[in-house]
Amino acid sequence: MKALILSGGKGTRLRPLTHTGAKQLVPVANKPILWYGIESIVKAGITEIGIIISPETGEEIRRKTGSGEQFGANITYILQDEPLGLAHAVKIGRPFLGDSPFIMYLGDNLIQDDINVFLDKFKNQHLDELILLRSVSNPTAFGVAVVDDKGRVLKLVEKPKNPPSNLALVGVYFFSPAVHQAIDNIQPSPRGELEITDAIQELINTDKIVESVQLQGWWLDTGKKDDLLEANRIILDTNLSIDKAGNIDDKSKISGRVNIKGNTTIINSTIRGPVIIGENCHIENCFIGPYTSIGDKCTLVDADIEHSVLLESAQILEIDQRIVDSLIGGRAKLEMAPQRPKALRFMVGDDSHVELV
Ligand code: G1P
Repeated sequence: MKALILSGGKGTRLRPLTHTGAKQLVPVANKPILWYGIESIVKAGITEIGIIISPETGEEIRRKTGSGEQFGANITYILQDEPLGLAHAVKIGRPFLGDSPFIMYLGDNLIQDDINVFLDKFKNQHLDELILLRSVSNPTAFGVAVVDDKGRVLKLVEKPKNPPSNLALVGVYFFSPAVHQAIDNIQPSPRGELEITDAIQELINTDKIVESVQLQGWWLDTGKKDDLLEANRIILDTNLSIDKAGNIDDKSKISGRVNIKGNTTIINSTIRGPVIIGENCHIENCFIGPYTSIGDKCTLVDADIEHSVLLESAQILEIDQRIVDSLIGGRAKLEMAPQRPKALRFMVGDDSHVELV
């Protein structure tokens, strides 16, 4: 069994962060989203992992993620020159996959459930394909499935205008090598992509066994700001270990589950968990409220923030209103004049969103 993780794409819905970086490297609880997928695959006992990368962001993914050694895996990077669809990515990955069955994992998806249980079902029942489904309130944004009462998949449609059900296709798929022939038999969709949903439909049309499991735990497709904040909230709630390696002065009050990495200084501040703070940060006269993740090398002085994510080297200086529900990019600087400002001065990147509420 091998795994193919898709980590290309342009990340248009997370701009401006993704103008300069890969959406799969945006952190959730200070760890790139992509790494959660790698860890979950390795936990299921699969160590041969191919990662599909794009020319725009592939180098950054390769540099940060490395050979796989840190995960106990062997990673092969596979370049997809153009984003021509998920099934196209499988086509590109074929020399790596050979005749092996494989998991395809979309690098911006996070699921709560361990994948072992699904893998066992896929293997034990000798399925040609196993898909994971989750009922959603907005099925038009996803691939949608129609299944019978035993979970056998009858029909799939990609982003339908009139969804035949509310069961969305989760971005984790289990394939036998039969999928390669199915991909060879499909044509690009109206949006010009080779769709994986069409390839699975082709498997159904040729009487292959395509089954589904409905996820009970949460599933997050982290392509947008609010989804990312929600993923951050859930991971901090469920996975955060307590660590107070930083230098915390006597005037600071730390409560709840808080993880502060080494070389970080906390002066006269209140931190109420769950909160994670990276290395080499300076936090002074601040309130850091629940569900906040602060990346390495951030500086916060006279700031009040909760339910937010700050990327590496961001700075917040002397802002007396509370900052909430915010995603602040790497090296971004937010500051306010000591007196209540009479004017607001911005230098904001393309596709940014500023709300003064
Ligand atoms: C892709 C798939 C879709 C699936 C979704 C899950 O959509 O095409 O079938 O439901 O991933 O994240 P995309 O995220 O490329 O719009």
